[in-house]
Amino acid sequence: MNDDLPTRLIHHPYSPPAGFEAPQPGVFKASTVIFPNVAAMQARDWRRRDGYTYGLHGTPTTFTLEERIATLEGGQHCVLVPSGLAAVALVDLAFLSPGDEVLLPVNVYGPSRELARHELQRMGITHRLYDPQDATALAALIGPATRLVWLEAPGSVTMEFPDLAGLAAVARGRGVLTALDNTWGAGLALRGFDHGIDIVMQALTKYPSGGGDVLMGSVVTRDATLHERLKLTHMRLGLGVGANDAEAVLRGLPSMALRYAAQDAMGRQLATWLGTQPEVTQVLHPALPGSPGHAHWQRHCSAAAGLFSVLLDARFSVAQVHAFVDALRLFRIGYSWAGPVSLVVPYELSTMREPAQRLPGHLVRFSMGLEAVADLKTDLLQALESAFRS
Ligand SMILES: Cc1ncc(COP(=O)(O)O)c(C=O)c1O
Repeated sequence: MNDDLPTRLIHHPYSPPAGFEAPQPGVFKASTVIFPNVAAMQARDWRRRDGYTYGLHGTPTTFTLEERIATLEGGQHCVLVPSGLAAVALVDLAFLSPGDEVLLPVNVYGPSRELARHELQRMGITHRLYDPQDATALAALIGPATRLVWLEAPGSVTMEFPDLAGLAAVARGRGVLTALDNTWGAGLALRGFDHGIDIVMQALTKYPSGGGDVLMGSVVTRDATLHERLKLTHMRLGLGVGANDAEAVLRGLPSMALRYAAQDAMGRQLATWLGTQPEVTQVLHPALPGSPGHAHWQRHCSAAAGLFSVLLDARFSVAQVHAFVDALRLFRIGYSWAGPVSLVVPYELSTMREPAQRLPGHLVRFSMGLEAVADLKTDLLQALESAFRS
């Protein structure tokens, strides 16, 4: 081997011609970013997006994804983090200090509440739960220490759709920041900024990715000061995302609206049909009449995610409900949603809510994949028959 071969394999003079273009942007992977000279290194400010400093603070791939997600949500600025839950944590850590209080809806995404119960609590940040179906109750709850109100539309698992604009107006009137978990609305069915919300986060893990194979989250704002605060906390916590994951989400975005519409149609069809089955006492799908908050959904949304829950009659045993879920063949048992595979999860409401907020019966949540809807219906029917009718 020539002595200088290792060096020439790294510092080779060839550079490919400029001007390559393809439907998808390229993937730029970096921890180290190389500067032409010291002056250029010293002149770069990692907060500005007109240059690169270190992979953690942005690459062409992550900047491109940030721009597209800000556009999706109707915002101006975006920060990417390694999961939807990390996006929740980033908002909490950026805006809450010891002595502050955060208000969470009773039907908040469970791990967000766990974060408040443990890490936030340890930092001297308190939380209280509010009923998102009652804007006056929220007004009564806001006190001098309240800094942040989390909103979710619809609520996780039980799917109640709140008067989002009304809740945001209450918080704004009291000078309290609002943050919306818009994972369900995904920027397609619902745009938080149109309803007076300050910060919109999303688990890109779900609809933007669409593959069931990536974890990522985003936090979008319209306000440069809020963004700067998020960006500083993001930098100090080191919450960068990998280029391959960013590329996977970029690949999901072009088909996102089509997938969302298809899964919306499938969800409404199957939820409506399940509502006619004798074992089902209630369907929890905000786009269907009779579901809690349906009128609020009508006022706020143009579409719905392919996600819904049903309540099975309390006369059945937990074992029967589990047998129903186990009997499903196309619906696979697993967390998350918006991927190609339809998913199902039975939830034990008694472990999730205070007695007053519990719903009667057994709750099972379904997430639409991309299978043929007739096959999914056949699957549901055979599982109902085998668990409850034989
Ligand atoms: C409403 C909602 N928000 C946030 C998250 C968290 O996303 P991730 O799984 O990427 O942490 C989830 C995940 O299920 C969710 O359902």
